Amino acid sequence: MKRVITYGTFDLLHYGHINLLKRAKAQGDYLVVVLSTDEFNWESKQKKSYFDYEKRKQLLEAIRYVDLVVPEHNWEQKVSDVKLYQIDVFVMGDDWTGKFDFIAEETEAEVVYLSRTPEVSTSQIKDDLSMNG
Ligand code: CTP
Repeated sequence: MKRVITYGTFDLLHYGHINLLKRAKAQGDYLVVVLSTDEFNWESKQKKSYFDYEKRKQLLEAIRYVDLVVPEHNWEQKVSDVKLYQIDVFVMGDDWTGKFDFIAEETEAEVVYLSRTPEVSTSQIKDDLSMNG
């Protein structure tokens, strides 16, 4: 069984997220999503998600492409996650191209960057709603 991992906040789940998860799952048979905790979002990005961790997790778990959701607490856990979950393919959106090549050197996993879906993002949705609200 080929095991795939990806990371993100997935706040205000949108079709760009679904597209990414679908193509991530297509890289193998089992998809692990490592979901930023509320504390990590705040400490690392000074971002407060609209939906809290448990709600974002529940939404992800309802998606057919997602097999397991676990918490992301810090930037440093990626190599240990890959080893712990015996990951074959490490997937990120192409906004991160090149940034995680070290994973392929430090683990057995292949690193794949998938193109982002144009014109949609959580930040954009938040901006648009506050302009129209
Ligand atoms: N993603 C994507 N296409 C989009 C938006 C996101 O493929 N249009 C991917 C990202 O590249 C990442 C995953 O979905 O691999 C989770 O992204 P996240 O940062 O949680 O969502 P964004 O909508 O990009 O949120 P923000 O605007 O807050 O950065």
